[in-house]
Amino acid sequence: MGVSERKGRGLVANLRVLIADEDLDSRVSMKRAVARAELDLVGETGYGTEAVSLALEARPDVIFVAVEEPAARPLDTADGLANALPDTPIIIYSSAGDAESVRRGMIFGARDYLVKPVESSRIRDAIGVALNQEERRQMRRAGQLSAVHGRGSVITVAGAKGGIGKSVVSTNLAVALRQETGRSVVIIDADTQFGDVATMLDLLPDVTVGDLVKQRGDVDRSMVRQFVTTHAATGVDVLAASEEEDAWDGCSLDDVKRLIDLYAQVYDFVIVDTAGAMDAFVRACIETSTLSLVVSSGDVSAVRDTAAAVRRLDKWGVHPDRVRFVLNAGSHDQGINADEMAEAIGREVFWTVPHDRAVIDSVQVGQPLVLRGGKAKAAQSLTMLARRIGGKSGASDTQSTSEPFWRRVLPARGPAMRGTGDDDTGLEPVVETVDRGR
Ligand SMILES: Nc1ncnc2c1ncn2[C@@H]1O[C@H](COP(=O)(O)OP(=O)(O)O)[C@@H](O)[C@H]1O
Ligand SMILES: [Mg+2]
Repeated sequence: MGVSERKGRGLVANLRVLIADEDLDSRVSMKRAVARAELDLVGETGYGTEAVSLALEARPDVIFVAVEEPAARPLDTADGLANALPDTPIIIYSSAGDAESVRRGMIFGARDYLVKPVESSRIRDAIGVALNQEERRQMRRAGQLSAVHGRGSVITVAGAKGGIGKSVVSTNLAVALRQETGRSVVIIDADTQFGDVATMLDLLPDVTVGDLVKQRGDVDRSMVRQFVTTHAATGVDVLAASEEEDAWDGCSLDDVKRLIDLYAQVYDFVIVDTAGAMDAFVRACIETSTLSLVVSSGDVSAVRDTAAAVRRLDKWGVHPDRVRFVLNAGSHDQGINADEMAEAIGREVFWTVPHDRAVIDSVQVGQPLVLRGGKAKAAQSLTMLARRIGGKSGASDTQSTSEPFWRRVLPARGPAMRGTGDDDTGLEPVVETVDRGR
């Protein structure tokens, strides 16, 4: 695959860190934590002009500043560093964890605030999140991402393996979102290997992702509809996968993000179906997404791979609130259940789609299960999932029109929802509030 990862930015490892801390004991423990987090220390310094000169010379990716009482000097240093290197995230660490101290740190330019003792895992998380946000900020400034408003919700459906039901979830979610909310929906078939969204919807596309990628430099938001095929029965649009294996070649990860973002400027919901991998390409999709659903089947091997995917998402700095885990019982009704999966992956299982022969039939005939109505358990579950994610039409009555309900930030993690379809009360849309990164 010809997707090239941006140099250096991609991984938390090998990131260059500077520490400004005048207390030598505290500095030594911070250095240890930085080493355990496998980051490169490129400089250590006290406060004041010395810190700023060293930062300008060393050009770190991230700067840690210790702030203890009396706080004036360290805060001045943070402020000076933020002015000198406005694109470099500053993270404060301190033994004070009260709201006022944190607030003060933020006012003086910090992107994050860690309370001592600072653990290496927290350092990696904080850096991942800070760099992600910085990257988005820079892309926005360069006009590559749309502003906070005027952007639909992007939902990536990912998973560590093939054959676990990602495309079943993507297509049914798209159709159900369309039916439940009446909003515009597009599916981007971003399976770089074998995309089968078009087949699952019984479409024979004339245009594919390959055509879009060829013209990517010239494409703007007014053109994105030229590359889709409409599913007549529902009005869901599909950017179909190409049969050519090199369809995405030459597309940088920034291009991928930009193309997805263009669709999000035109459609209320953009569903991105991906290949069974957690690679740089899928990462790019996840990073532009409002929410990602990580699907697993109940196979031991799939669950184990999902646990590895959780660790990878953490390493990438994807905020846990942007990810939900879906157990698709798939073709194995004897597999691992939701509680066991939650335990194995260390995350809540947000939704369970039951095993259902009707899914297999629906794939065979190219008609999404949620369209076929009837009593199929999986259809009810998938419809409920769409409601939970997008809300139901009419549910927006209480919402102001200037800010549609799916454009706000994710709520705090609630109790696990088990989407068996029995319970359709009290569903709050999940995508209602999404912090699009600052
Ligand atoms: N809930 C389910 N119940 C029964 N069969 C399922 C279910 N989900 C998926 N399948 C079967 O698994 C196959 C693979 O699903 P698919 O969505 O294509 O996987 P992926 O996109 O992850 O490769 C489908 O063709 C379908 O027959
Ligand atoms: Mg698939």
